[in-house]
Formats: sequence, C-alpha cells, structure tokens
Amino acid sequence: MIVMQIDLSLIGMEKGRQYETIITTENGEGVKNAAPMGVICSGSDMILTRIFKGSHTLDNIITQKEFVVNITHSPEIFTSSLLGNLDDECFNDDLSLKDCNAYFKCEAISFTEAVKQSDPIKKKGEAIIIKSKVTELNIKKDTAAFNRGFGYVIESLTNFSRFDLVEGDLKDFYIKRFREAYRVVKKVGTKQDIKAMNKIKKELKAKGHDI
Ligand SMILES: Cc1cc2nc3c(=O)[nH]c(=O)nc-3n(C[C@H](O)[C@H](O)[C@H](O)COP(=O)(O)O)c2cc1C
Repeated sequence: MIVMQIDLSLIGMEKGRQYETIITTENGEGVKNAAPMGVICSGSDMILTRIFKGSHTLDNIITQKEFVVNITHSPEIFTSSLLGNLDDECFNDDLSLKDCNAYFKCEAISFTEAVKQSDPIKKKGEAIIIKSKVTELNIKKDTAAFNRGFGYVIESLTNFSRFDLVEGDLKDFYIKRFREAYRVVKKVGTKQDIKAMNKIKKELKAKGHDI
C-alpha cells in the first residue's frame, strides 16, 4: 500500500533515532546492490545516513541520487547482503526488496563530508553524511523499523540478573559490556530504551561500580 501522506512514524521511526535497514541502490549500468545501513529519522519525511567511503552504496547514491530503504527483520537478508550481494531475483523492478515489510524511496538532497571524532573505527573525512527526502512510502504489512536499543536493554538486564552470581574477571566483563551497551543505546535507542538503561546504570552505581 502506498501511503499518501508520507510519515515515517507509521513504520515506528522516531525523530533523532537510528534504525537498521537494508539500503538498495543501482549503479549507472543497472546493477542492483543491497547493504545493511543505519538510517536516522530526522523528520516525518527526512532521513540522514552516514556512509563510509569505499562502499557500493555510497558510490551509487552519489551518482544516481536515488535509493530505497527497506524495512525487514530477516536475519538472512541482513547477513547475505553484508557478506556478499543479494541475488538479482531478490529485487523488484523499482529497486525494493521482494522480502520486506515496508520500504521507502529517497532522493539525496545534500552530501557533507564528516565523521564524529568519537567514532570508534574511523577518522575524520572518511564518511559522508547524506540528507535525503522520502518521496514514497510503501507499507506491505504492519511493521516497525528495527532499532538496536531494545536488544541491548534485554542483554543488559540478563547480565544484570547474573551480576551478583559472578566474581572477578567475569564481573569486569559484564561492566565493560554494559558500558558499550549504554554508549550504543544513548546513540540509537528510543526514549524508553535510554530510560531503562539509566535505571540499570543507577543500580550498578549503587553497587559501587564506576560506569
Ligand atoms: C546492521 C548494520 C548497519 C550498518 N550501518 C552502516 C552505516 O550506517 N554506514 C556504513 O557506512 N556502513 C554500515 N554498515 C556496514 C556496511 O553494510 C558494509 O560496509 C557493507 O559491506 C557495504 O556494502 P556495499 O559495498 O555493498 O555498499 C552496517 C552494517 C550492518 C550489519
């Protein structure tokens, strides 16, 4: 179903939060490409992506200006599109994936050379932030875009429930995992995820741990 009034909240996307999606693109010769990419919702019909240089996705968006963001919860699609490329028969003619719950078409509006200095793996100037406008939203079935936050909350709670049962190195290991989970949730999670992580942090601090 094509949605007449484009509104990303219809697929669970909250302004300022990041969702994990599959971006599909095409090069000038009609070769289709799929890759997992984080997409930040910056308004009801606007998104931001930060894509590292050297990827097919970035090259194709720079040359074609148009791309598709696919919403799927399929581990198979995320894995196959990261480890290689999806077979041609996985794509529809309009570039969307056949096996997705929803998708939206985007038009790139601006390209800014940037990367946060705090990025754990890359240095300044190695990524491009692309601001894009959503030109069509297509919802095939009721769905919500995947956000990494909730998984981290559950993981942190599981670890917390084991925390008093372990000692020494394993305790330190759980603390390190919590710090990383907290960093990611603050960056990408929903308000509820962040609230939950702050509660866990408070409990860990009350136990005397420096988080
Ligand atoms: C869940 C997930 C999210 C990702 N998000 C991004 C991202 O936001 N930006 C980026 O440059 N790479 C991201 N990657 C890594 C790219 O998918 C990876 O570099 C891929 O090989 C690019 O493929 P391509 O050359 O076909 O475009 C992500 C990977 C995963 C698994």
